[in-house]
Amino acid sequence: MQKGQLLLEVDTQASLERVLCEVRQSKTKIDAVVATGDLAHSPKKDIYERFFETVKSYFDLPLLCIPGNHDVLSEMKRACLPMDPLNIDAWSIVWLDSHQDESTPASVSATDEAFLLESIESAKGSSLLIATHHPLLDVGSPWLDKHKIREVDRLFELVNKSPDIQSGFKSVKGFIFGHAHQDVDSSVQGIPVLGCPSTCFQFRPYTSTFALNSETPGCRILRLGNKLESEVYRSNFAVQPMVKSL
Ligand SMILES: [Fe+2]
Repeated sequence: MQKGQLLLEVDTQASLERVLCEVRQSKTKIDAVVATGDLAHSPKKDIYERFFETVKSYFDLPLLCIPGNHDVLSEMKRACLPMDPLNIDAWSIVWLDSHQDESTPASVSATDEAFLLESIESAKGSSLLIATHHPLLDVGSPWLDKHKIREVDRLFELVNKSPDIQSGFKSVKGFIFGHAHQDVDSSVQGIPVLGCPSTCFQFRPYTSTFALNSETPGCRILRLGNKLESEVYRSNFAVQPMVKSL
């Protein structure tokens, strides 16, 4: 979107800035930012550059950007968006690519599965947080659940190949995802699986077809300690998203 343009009647640039501004003002200690995809509605280099500059202007910190179904990976790379894994104390945040450019179905390639296994096997006592764009579980809305990552069972088989698994230690301490535009706080096989609210409009939970609600924009604050803890931050920025026609 160009600056000032509305998407479903919401100024997405303004709502992103408001969320970033409020979190900064909250004095919450932030060490890094993870953007879980769908970073642009018009996936062009200049829009991604503006996104990068916007985040940096509030949090000049390590940033990890991952592509969603509305993104175009080559344009993200042309804009030099940072996409390397993040290392924060005893934690590493790595991402699995579940997207296809401008297409919704979600799939993780054999190459990415191999990368996950390598990350798990080399973690050696450190903790891993895995970020994806698409959900790894059903969120309860059939129209969204069609786009759950297809290879979820195989990914969790890999999680259980942690070298320290015999002593009950799993390197993977959590998964986070975007796409669902809502707070999801669940788990699979005892591992937290957390969905992040959108920094613009929110999808109405538990609906059979696409629907929005007026919940305010937000983000998820992650605390990486002995275990993964988190909370959702909701902005004071009121939005009234609307679909003009379907
Ligand atoms: Fe998405």
